[in-house]
Amino acid sequence: MEKIVFDKLEELDYGVTEALRTLKTNIQFCGDDIKTILLTSSIPSEGKSTVTLNLARSMAASGQKVIYVDCDIRKSVIVGRLGAHTENRKKIFGLSHYLSGQKRLEEVCYSTEVDGMDMIFAGPSVPNPTEILGNHYFEEMLETLRNTYDIVLLDTPPLGSVIDAAVIAPKADGAILVVEQGKVSRRFIKAVKKQLENSGVKILGAVLNKIEVKKQGYYKKYYGNAYEYR
Ligand SMILES: Nc1ncnc2c1ncn2[C@@H]1O[C@H](COP(=O)(O)OP(=O)(O)OP(=O)(O)O)[C@@H](O)[C@H]1O
Ligand SMILES: [Mg+2]
Repeated sequence: MEKIVFDKLEELDYGVTEALRTLKTNIQFCGDDIKTILLTSSIPSEGKSTVTLNLARSMAASGQKVIYVDCDIRKSVIVGRLGAHTENRKKIFGLSHYLSGQKRLEEVCYSTEVDGMDMIFAGPSVPNPTEILGNHYFEEMLETLRNTYDIVLLDTPPLGSVIDAAVIAPKADGAILVVEQGKVSRRFIKAVKKQLENSGVKILGAVLNKIEVKKQGYYKKYYGNAYEYR
């Protein structure tokens, strides 16, 4: 497996590390049959990718073998955002190469400089994302990854905008809804939650993201089951 290094991986501060630890513990209490976890949100930019990646780092730091899978094959931003490259700067292949049958799974799995965290990047965007996410390759991938890793984290596009997460959801063991504080109406969040439920996936909980510290108590009460992540 080729190794990825990151030129732009940000350090996690104490507050974030603590919040991630809580989230990780809450996930563990969901049961050890929960291995493939999808993260989605209602609208773009609520922080799905940030939370998913940092959760993966946190899990890896505590000794779990984890893989982050970027299922947002509509736009691939992670490589650029992290300044990710192989040591000899070879081309990086991703999920869309695998799902379209151009590459085998082992050719799109990368180890990383973060010990215990492997990654599958999105790859170039495709004209028919929903269709290829629904094909047999995706299921086969999850089956293989489930047998290889302790936890598989699936970063997806926002369910309030595109259907992709609902296509993937029935194949995952659980789903987490990332909610940016004060950004989306309760009604819309509920509708998206309902859509997730209808897909048949078990909803593990929500992560309230970008919360202001002074409002923590209030929001914790407001969303009884929410995990916090700042
Ligand atoms: N807890 C946080 N505190 C401050 N900024 C954050 C936090 N979480 C995410 N962000 C910032 O918000 C922006 C959107 O985050 P991110 O890309 O993770 O969201 P996303 O839900 O994956 O977006 P998209 O729908 O485009 O995939 C980024 O600039 C990110 O750095
Ligand atoms: Mg994202």
